[in-house]
Amino acid sequence: MRFMIRISTVVALIAILPQHLMAEIKNTTAEDNFKIVQHKNNADKIEHGIALNNDTSPFYPSRATTGSKTKLTSSMFDSPELCGSCHIEIYKQWKGSMHSNAWRDPIYRAVLALASKSTNGAVDNLCIGCHTPIGLVTGEATPSGENMSEVSNQGVQCSFCHNVSDTTGVGNGAFVLTPNLHGRRLMFGPFKDAQSAFHDTAYSELHTKSEFCGQCHNVSHPFNKLPIERTFDEWKDSWYAGQNIQCQDCHMTMGPGVTKKSGSATPFSKNREQIYTHYFVGGNVMVPKMLGSEQHSNLAEQMLRAAATIEILPKTSLRFETMQTISVKVSNIGAGHKLPTGFPEGREMWLDFKMTDAKGTVFYQLGKIKDGVTEQGTKSFKVILGDKQGNIVDLKLWQADRVLYDTRIPAKGYSIVDYNFVLPKGITSPITVTADLNYWSFPQKIVDFLLGKNTIAVPITKMASATITLTTN
Ligand code: HEC
Ligand code: HEC
Ligand code: HEC
Ligand code: HEC
Ligand code: HEC
Repeated sequence: MRFMIRISTVVALIAILPQHLMAEIKNTTAEDNFKIVQHKNNADKIEHGIALNNDTSPFYPSRATTGSKTKLTSSMFDSPELCGSCHIEIYKQWKGSMHSNAWRDPIYRAVLALASKSTNGAVDNLCIGCHTPIGLVTGEATPSGENMSEVSNQGVQCSFCHNVSDTTGVGNGAFVLTPNLHGRRLMFGPFKDAQSAFHDTAYSELHTKSEFCGQCHNVSHPFNKLPIERTFDEWKDSWYAGQNIQCQDCHMTMGPGVTKKSGSATPFSKNREQIYTHYFVGGNVMVPKMLGSEQHSNLAEQMLRAAATIEILPKTSLRFETMQTISVKVSNIGAGHKLPTGFPEGREMWLDFKMTDAKGTVFYQLGKIKDGVTEQGTKSFKVILGDKQGNIVDLKLWQADRVLYDTRIPAKGYSIVDYNFVLPKGITSPITVTADLNYWSFPQKIVDFLLGKNTIAVPITKMASATITLTTN
């Protein structure tokens, strides 16, 4: 009985629904309407990649912060030489690295001077924050580099990295630097049970992850957010991130590839299953040598040679007087990010492609250096940034507004480059085809501009090479 009534009410309701709804809308009062509900502001979880303002980032436009309410002074940090009195090997490895050179590097200083002048100092803190973080938080560093303490001059150093207590995100120097957190020297590191007579120790998982490096190895334009360097994101989007292979596994190990090495942190502390090295080599062959370390320069060459392979795709013969194609395949087998990565205006990898006749005469070449740059038409692997009008930005990165194109090769990826040409009659067979894969950290022209002509010849590293011999028919 009750069941019947329910059914009939439902039927009745359905029958009257349209008019009923219309009536509702017409008679709506403020009280019946959907409400605006107060909810906590959760925008602080959004990763902006840049510093937003002075309140959250006291060293704006750097994202750096400190865990201290008072201003930090250089006496709160120890020199790498002091750390090196116990951590002997680690100090030797770090000294001469691009981290140890990050502030003194003359190329950097020349670009910094230019950037500071062109922006009336608006980007000073940003640049300083990653190239001498201690110089930033102590307020000692200025583009001229005058009156700085010795510690501030030492770039990305021991007591910076091991006093990072936290991070506020990825990129633009998002570290929290906290020396003497509990009133004494305290070093954050990878061990859960380290004991030292000189400093307290604290386990920090952050130090074992790429996110630690990502604080600085992702650079965005501080005002328009343009991605300028994206080494961390490139890694994050790669196979390596999925396999839990961190930056440390390639850049803090002996030689290229992912290797392990046991050892101890000081000559007098216990043996550990794995000790990470502190060479931090990448592709920079020029600056380490210029500033006195042949070893770091040689290691960088090894790193580059382990990064890529090259092959000329199979072909047995060439024909005269019709369009011919030879394809070259370049694979990124060793870098855990794009190849090349990092500083966009400099880093360039390119193919030097040559054909030689039976007499040994080169009758075709593309990829030579002309006037300090790779010649027009060279097949290069590079990112090119543009300004608001879409013009190519050369060095003046602060004017960059967009990425115009990017031919770099992703981790585990490859690129196939075609050479199309018409073979003139009379070339004597067999023909030798050679493709060299070259790299430089900066074109000679940029270095001449920054440091003056004839100051230094930029080294070119041959990363890989392939040769085939073809007959003609
Ligand atoms: C008097 C010698 C001595 C000096 C000076 C010294 N350390 Fe240590 N440090 C040690 C010893 C011993 C250990 C423990 C190693 C172990 O347990 O494997 C250690 C451990 C560490 C660890 C690992 C901490 C962890 O929990 O993972 C870091 C990082 C570290 N030191 C950094 C530094 C830095 C940076 C400096 C300079 C500011 C420095 N040390 C100066 C002796 C020293
Ligand atoms: C760019 C940041 C950076 C700099 C500069 C740096 N370290 Fe480290 N260090 C690390 C990271 C990251 C680890 C941990 C790697 C891991 O476990 O994945 C580490 C590990 C260590 C350890 C533990 C033992 C080992 O090697 O695995 C000690 C001790 C240490 N560093 C001391 C030093 C000293 C001394 C200096 C200066 C001469 C220095 N570090 C410079 C980032 C840095
Ligand atoms: C405080 C910011 C900062 C942090 C944190 C940092 N780096 Fe760097 N790193 C730099 C700067 C700045 C340079 C370049 C210096 C120059 O070229 O003048 C550099 C250079 C390098 C280079 C050499 C690049 C080349 O062209 O040869 C490698 C490799 C490298 N870093 C790896 C790492 C790894 C791995 C980590 C994490 C364990 C890390 N860095 C953490 C700022 C940082
Ligand atoms: C699988 C190993 C591997 C991993 C993982 C890896 N790298 Fe590299 N990295 C390389 C090799 C090889 C090179 C040399 C070739 C080149 O320049 O790209 C290199 C080069 C670099 C350079 C110099 C690039 C240039 O041309 O100026 C920087 C900076 C760098 N790596 C930082 C990082 C950071 C930061 C991470 C983590 C986010 C990372 N790498 C992860 C292997 C690796
Ligand atoms: C978020 C951290 C960060 C900020 C901010 C930053 N840099 Fe760098 N810079 C780096 C890293 C990391 C590298 C190394 C990348 C590589 O090896 O390709 C680098 C490399 C360079 C190089 C190449 C030096 C060499 O010898 O290879 C120059 C020049 C440079 N930076 C200038 C600047 C200037 C000028 C600013 C400010 C407008 C600036 N940087 C801001 C992290 C930063």
